[in-house]
Amino acid sequence: MEIKPELSKFQDVEADALAVPIFEGEKPDQGLLKELDELSGGMVSEVISSGEMRGKLGDAVYIHRPGKIAARRLLLLGAGSQPVTPDAWSKCGGTAARFLRTKGAKNFALLLRSASDLSAAAQNVVEGVTLGLFEPDTYKTRDKEARTIDRLTLVANDGPSGNKAGEIATGIQRGTIIADAMNLARGLANEPSSTLTPSELASRAKTNASPLGLDVDILDQERMEALGMGALLGVARGSDQPPKLVVLTYTPPASRPSSTDIVAVVGKGITFDSGGISIKPAAGMEQMKYDMSGAAHTLAIMCAIAQLKPNVKVIGLMPTCENMPSGHSYKPGDVVRAMSGKTIEVVNTDAEGRLILADALTYARKLGATKIIDMATLTGSVVVALAAVNTGLFGNNQALIDEVRQSGREVGEKLWPMPMDPEYRDLFKSDIADIKNSGGRNGGATIAALFLSEFAEDTPWVHLDIAGTAWESDRKSYTAKGPTGACIRTVVNYICNHASEGAR
Ligand code: BES
Ligand code: MN
Ligand code: ZN
Repeated sequence: MEIKPELSKFQDVEADALAVPIFEGEKPDQGLLKELDELSGGMVSEVISSGEMRGKLGDAVYIHRPGKIAARRLLLLGAGSQPVTPDAWSKCGGTAARFLRTKGAKNFALLLRSASDLSAAAQNVVEGVTLGLFEPDTYKTRDKEARTIDRLTLVANDGPSGNKAGEIATGIQRGTIIADAMNLARGLANEPSSTLTPSELASRAKTNASPLGLDVDILDQERMEALGMGALLGVARGSDQPPKLVVLTYTPPASRPSSTDIVAVVGKGITFDSGGISIKPAAGMEQMKYDMSGAAHTLAIMCAIAQLKPNVKVIGLMPTCENMPSGHSYKPGDVVRAMSGKTIEVVNTDAEGRLILADALTYARKLGATKIIDMATLTGSVVVALAAVNTGLFGNNQALIDEVRQSGREVGEKLWPMPMDPEYRDLFKSDIADIKNSGGRNGGATIAALFLSEFAEDTPWVHLDIAGTAWESDRKSYTAKGPTGACIRTVVNYICNHASEGAR
């Protein structure tokens, strides 16, 4: 898709369709809407007064003969209340792209009206459009969406001040980098586990990361054994597929002053979670192919970082294996020894994510991480608590928790802080080892997070439980069902605009 800025009057833009955001409560008798109403022969006031368009996010009204505007069609898009949020810009882009594609439009223009920050608005719209056009149809031989949008124009009024075209172009570039990375992660999460084995995930990580200049190191079973990663290896044992630990490294250009921090991003990469010997019920088990979303998001973040080039060193760790029942499986009652030396009694083989993350966190610390963010589809509990609306936000350092939450707000992603009181630690004490890997159902998301904190130790660390947010099970006007890429934008924003701030 070609995306370009255009500075001109909206009525002069040539395209298959012109998309115009409409705000809640907006009256068609003033400002831009008045102009548009007159040009369209009263169409705009008609759809607003009839209540067809109320400006609610997701509303879309298509006008076939828009009168005196150069575009062939007019699409009015509900944008919610003013000022337009990052999320609203993104959803407007997604809704427009998906809607217009079904109408056979090959291209469209979107008016960035009332944007206080043109670069940010352009970025959000490009993200929304790119994410909106993603379809999980790799394996379809029929009913495949053949139509595409091949050109998007972002329109702003030409003004006397500033470099508007330059600002929009910057937003387009950043939005494209981030949304393409998100779509890479979404594609991986959709892959069946028969195709996307741990080895295949590692090889796709290399294929995508190497050309971008990232350093790629893939630890095999032998190296993990030498490092004493007994927790990760314990989970992997039941599967015929060998485990991998992918380590991606971004080093900022030597010519620039950079932060002394090393940020580690760690993602859970269970390519299939059957539950193991503590096997899961059949209903819904097919979704557990997405249990590698954290690792896929880590890859996406690293690919985006490689292109955005912040002034801070970043390492991405993707521990990956399958959780399967077999004659080789680890079993309830087994004790595994983690790389850090801590012993863990396995009371439920389905609480496997925290085990592979334990060793990855220790390895991140060994590699010199000074700040760690992990992402994982870790618990059913967080889905019960927060559904697909908020990501569960945990950590051992209030400043880092606040910064990550703020990074989310800035890109329109919701994260909700969850408790980490020490009282919950009593729930995963073991009679025979240092800790056990499950404390039962109650407080499950916090227990899992506190378990991880044992391995983050004194390194400032944040844990994002994306079990609910990484998968969208309802159809939306702006996106396909399935993997969402949740929190990729948040973490990229944190690294580029917060972690690299202290560059010296
Ligand atoms: N991958 C699952 C978490 C999950 C469950 C994500 C449902 C999305 C939907 C994780 O490995 C798991 O099985 N967690 C268990 C832990 C329990 C056994 C302590 C859970 O949350 O039920
Ligand atoms: Mn599990
Ligand atoms: Zn799992």
